[in-house]
Amino acid sequence: MSDTTRASEAPVLVVEHIDKSFFGVPVLRDVSLTLRPGTVHGLVGENGAGKSTLMKILMGVYTRDAGVMRWRGEEVDFTHPVQAMKAGLATVFQEFNLLPERSVAQNVFLGREPRRGVLVDNRRMIRETESLLTDLGIDFIDPEARVGGLSVAEQQIVEIVKALSVDARVIQMDEPTAALADHEVELLYAIVRRLRDRGVAILYVSHRLREIFDLCDDITVLKDGALVSTGPASELTPDELVRRMVGRSISAFFPDKIEGTAPGDVRLELRGAGNDYVDGVDLTVRAGEIVGLAGLQGSGRTELVEGAFGALAYNRGEMLVDGQALAPRSPRQAVRAGIALVTEDRKARGLALAQSVLDNALLAIRGVFPGRTRRARQSVPGVLSSLEVTFRGLDQEVQFLSGGNQQKVVLAKWLATEPRVVLLDEPTRGIDVGAKIAVYQLMRELAKNGVAQLMVSSELPEVLGMADRILVMRDGRIVGELPPSVGEEAVLALAAGTTEEVAG
Ligand SMILES: Nc1ncnc2c1ncn2[C@@H]1O[C@H](COP(=O)(O)OP(=O)(O)OP(=O)(O)O)[C@@H](O)[C@H]1O
Ligand SMILES: [Mg+2]
Repeated sequence: MSDTTRASEAPVLVVEHIDKSFFGVPVLRDVSLTLRPGTVHGLVGENGAGKSTLMKILMGVYTRDAGVMRWRGEEVDFTHPVQAMKAGLATVFQEFNLLPERSVAQNVFLGREPRRGVLVDNRRMIRETESLLTDLGIDFIDPEARVGGLSVAEQQIVEIVKALSVDARVIQMDEPTAALADHEVELLYAIVRRLRDRGVAILYVSHRLREIFDLCDDITVLKDGALVSTGPASELTPDELVRRMVGRSISAFFPDKIEGTAPGDVRLELRGAGNDYVDGVDLTVRAGEIVGLAGLQGSGRTELVEGAFGALAYNRGEMLVDGQALAPRSPRQAVRAGIALVTEDRKARGLALAQSVLDNALLAIRGVFPGRTRRARQSVPGVLSSLEVTFRGLDQEVQFLSGGNQQKVVLAKWLATEPRVVLLDEPTRGIDVGAKIAVYQLMRELAKNGVAQLMVSSELPEVLGMADRILVMRDGRIVGELPPSVGEEAVLALAAGTTEEVAG
């Protein structure tokens, strides 16, 4: 929490009565909020509530239809992100905008390179990047490293350093922890607190409520583009916050198994499977089972499931589906064999952004089982509505959906193929509380119908709440199996290697 002197300082940014419509449809209505220096201000709401849109308006990507914006006491109107950045308002995006082929320092100073005469002053760029990193307490990122080779967490830090290089007074962060593993979240927290203590105001969007309460001094709640409330976090409880976001209270976050769900025969089996990233993987997933795959970032969880999906095909060991040997060399072959992978990276792999909601939902089935397209076309609207996808029509382009709604379309796309084995890699990343519960419910229904599910998740409560068994990975290997009853600490300890291996 900020001290009282800070809190009584003049606001750095005040917005009042912001309205915004897209093609005549209102997405923000009469939204007002005040950002105080040296505080973290949480901005929460369901998918499509208008959080990212508000941020884009503040930074000059979109123009507002009505309303006033006061920057350090003066009315302003940023018409371009570069203008906002120069004034001291920086944004760390929901999806990054870094150039992977350039270095860390080049990305930090992109478009504002320091020069000596006509030449870019590389040495100065590197030196300044280095000192900004040091200020944040980061010693593991080389300013000369290629950004494309960095982890998601490291790329995020580069985005933050970019903001600091212009001496930002306000930093907007749109779901900054969505892609991070638990230990990286701690690092981000530390950075956010350090920025706050320096007097920076942070506008912080997250679907993780624990995070909102851990970090935020103030909380603004949006629902369907309208302001529900804005004020001190200390006046809210988690229950009350959820009620304001979704308009109802939620009792059971992780739904119980559906009656009649029972583990059946082994559907997916790996025996000594390995690729360039994982090795000696033995596991089974039975029909009706949900097996969780826990581990730190870089432990090989994603690479393990991508092996089973033929994206990073195994070159050692055996894989069996329903007792039949299967060695998918491509995702197409895997899908044909009844395997689906719901990925965490919706921008890169999940969707055709310029195509419609319906075309995206039919993307996988058209490619692999064209003969089933007609039937799927009929079931798609039902699946979309059970996932509570908010969209204007089946013909709306996916790029205009909010981030969380895009994720739900990815799910719908795979469900349309009626898979026997579903691999889930961070399936609820970036989706709101209500939608998360809808995804969990759907997983329970798949289990009831005999689908075998293998779920990678960095959110331990999700693994503990949904999985029948938890496999823990470290350094490309499965190091043990735990029942969900052991609790978060035990899973983390095994993942980090602070406890002994457990027989799988
Ligand atoms: N460029 C655009 N054109 C048309 N509609 C848009 C555009 N950008 C956003 N929208 C719509 O505005 C609404 C708000 O979207 P926004 O991305 O701000 O939601 P959000 O609160 O950030 O959601 P999420 O938590 O899923 O990221 C959504 O209904 C979305 O479809
Ligand atoms: Mg968003």
